[in-house]
Amino acid sequence: MFDRRKFAIGMPLAALALAQSPARGQETKLTKPAAGGGMPLMEALAKRKSQRSFAPNPLAPEQMSQLLWAAFGVNRAGEDGRTAPSWRGSKETDIYIATAEGVTRYDPTTHGLSTHSKGDIRAQTGRADFPATAPAVLIYVADLARMAKASLDEQKLYAHVDAALIAQNVYLFAASEGLATVMLGNVDKAALAKTLNLPDSQIVTFTQPIGRPA
Ligand SMILES: Cc1cc2nc3c(=O)[nH]c(=O)nc-3n(C[C@H](O)[C@H](O)[C@H](O)COP(=O)(O)O)c2cc1C
Repeated sequence: MFDRRKFAIGMPLAALALAQSPARGQETKLTKPAAGGGMPLMEALAKRKSQRSFAPNPLAPEQMSQLLWAAFGVNRAGEDGRTAPSWRGSKETDIYIATAEGVTRYDPTTHGLSTHSKGDIRAQTGRADFPATAPAVLIYVADLARMAKASLDEQKLYAHVDAALIAQNVYLFAASEGLATVMLGNVDKAALAKTLNLPDSQIVTFTQPIGRPA
């Protein structure tokens, strides 16, 4: 018999600590995510939608931690398996997080955040006005150098597919948590890559603002 509880996604907001104000480049470790809880998958699918109005309140550090694990966290530690698939397991997508304070980068293998830059770049994460109003914007960056066996066209195609799979995890987590989110392709990606000071092998694929609905 179909047991909905076995298909639960997301997790309760476990007590995950995020230290404040790390120095540039310094990693802040998040505690291990809890492996249970959240809304049953079928209910989350029923609630999944794009929303473009955000309350300004920042997400709690615990909720951000759970969100990042759901997005692209390690779910099979021995093989660095992730919550989203990627082309030949290349795991080329890095998630940057833009907030009012600055930009951090998620490291799934340590479940930590490293500081990338100071300053609010949310207005550059989409051509519309609303991304700047979200308390956090996820920026999906693909390192094409990790897909060396593919042609450049294939690298770009698969990088966008892989980021979209992560984005759907975020959509489902948001549905489970009652958060608002929308994935964005209408972004000046070259300008954003420049702002992030990305090397030539790395491209922005999508962005995804997230927060409580306004
Ligand atoms: C690849 C892709 C790119 C998207 N880009 C944008 C965008 O730039 N701006 C936007 O407001 N929504 C964007 N969306 C969200 C879609 O507009 C939205 O998914 C669609 O209207 C269906 O609404 P729903 O997600 O609520 O079902 C994008 C969705 C996808 C899959």
